[in-house]
Amino acid sequence: MASTHAAEVLVASNRGPVSYEVREDGSLHARRGGGGLVSGLSAIGPDAGALWVCSALSDGDREAVRRGTGEAGVRMLDIPADVHADAYNGIANSVLWFVHHMLYQTPLEPVFDAEFRRRWVSYERYNRAFAEALAEEAAEGATAVVQDYHLTLVPGMLRELRPDLRIGHFSHTPWAPPDYFRMLPDDIREQIVRGMLGADRLGFLTRRWAGAFLDCAGEVDRELIHAAGPDGAAPGTIEHAPPGGGEPRTTVIGVHGLGADADFLRERAHQADVGERMAMLRAEIGEGRRAIVRVDRTELSKNIVRGLLAYRQLLDDHPEWREQVVHVAFAYPSRQDLAVYREYTAEVQRLADEINAGFGTPGWTPVVLHVKDDFARSLAAYRLADVALVNPIRDGMNLVAKEVPVVSDEGCALVLSREAGAYEELGEDAITVNPYDVTGTARALHEALVMPLPERAERTKRLAAAATALPPAQWFLDQLNALRG
Ligand code: G6P
Repeated sequence: MASTHAAEVLVASNRGPVSYEVREDGSLHARRGGGGLVSGLSAIGPDAGALWVCSALSDGDREAVRRGTGEAGVRMLDIPADVHADAYNGIANSVLWFVHHMLYQTPLEPVFDAEFRRRWVSYERYNRAFAEALAEEAAEGATAVVQDYHLTLVPGMLRELRPDLRIGHFSHTPWAPPDYFRMLPDDIREQIVRGMLGADRLGFLTRRWAGAFLDCAGEVDRELIHAAGPDGAAPGTIEHAPPGGGEPRTTVIGVHGLGADADFLRERAHQADVGERMAMLRAEIGEGRRAIVRVDRTELSKNIVRGLLAYRQLLDDHPEWREQVVHVAFAYPSRQDLAVYREYTAEVQRLADEINAGFGTPGWTPVVLHVKDDFARSLAAYRLADVALVNPIRDGMNLVAKEVPVVSDEGCALVLSREAGAYEELGEDAITVNPYDVTGTARALHEALVMPLPERAERTKRLAAAATALPPAQWFLDQLNALRG
């Protein structure tokens, strides 16, 4: 694709807003994704000169690039498959995701050896491909917002190519505390921090993650002056000089707590297909029974296995709930190229089967596990949930915790991990848990199940208000406005 030098607003992320599939007749079928960024960008309108730069992820995507038939406003980068695999699976999802979510079992992992170094070179190449595409497409003085841990080196690379741009980076994950971040080899740590500091503004979902970044940056470079906010935490600013001298620059650290999209969710949750799925789910659960609902990607950090263990303990400790409650768990496959994700998926299935075999009766299936991604069915489950279980080990925000209260029909008690970003905003009206404490989680599930209905409804109202305080469109506009100063 020829470069345009015309885009006024650019977004860069590994996964883009659209994906293609080659049909049997050879035609290309486009599927648009959802999420905060998609609705955020649509809020600035089609005439704003916005361009989304993303990776081609499927054969269909690569075919669309080859045919040059992609959608307007999207540029997909056909990065060589082996480079992409090493960068995305080998570094972003296996190393950076693990560091920020503190997922390593440290006696054995991580091992930063020659293989890691080889993959890191791919991560640099992949980041460079993004930086070059953004540099080609951006109009003079344009604003570029780079997303997530896949692209931490892009801000620095882009600044070198196009010092005229306003560059932002937003992290959708937690940020590791300095003692954990220190596991990374020193030169890699420094490269990540300096890459990020190429931005004018770094956005995080919570004060906690922003504060952790400030601490990690301070460890990498003791010369950094970081002037934190009034209470010593983020938002704040970092003053830094490029290594080897040069003009000092300032990077602002901002916090933008992405909220749920109430208008979209309420409208979508009342369409006919959601109603049909509610009837199907109700039949699976059984009339009059309570439903403990969870909806996740089958992701190591989501803690689905301990959630099942807690549910089993609930049935052990409170036999009065047997036959009276069903755990509805939607665990949608994710990152199945990685063996550890496949093993985790298998463990979720195994444990669900074990609970059903151990407790089930002819008329009662204690765990209803669905693995096929179906957004309408997720909304149906949100609407009828009595209890929502959101117990991640660590999570940047967790939008399920914010979406359930918005669409719940009769109020839903929220059991929420204190390690989810959403805890900062929802902690007061949720029943909060330490995600490692299975006994505590079982207790919290019981407490949620016995919560009187009027109290449940009241809390749900307050949770919904907090959850929608910063809808995606405003979240995105706030970042753009802050970047443009
Ligand atoms: C997290 C990340 C996103 C990512 C999503 C799905 O929410 O912050 O950047 O797109 O997970 O993961 P995937 O690897 O399927 O893109």
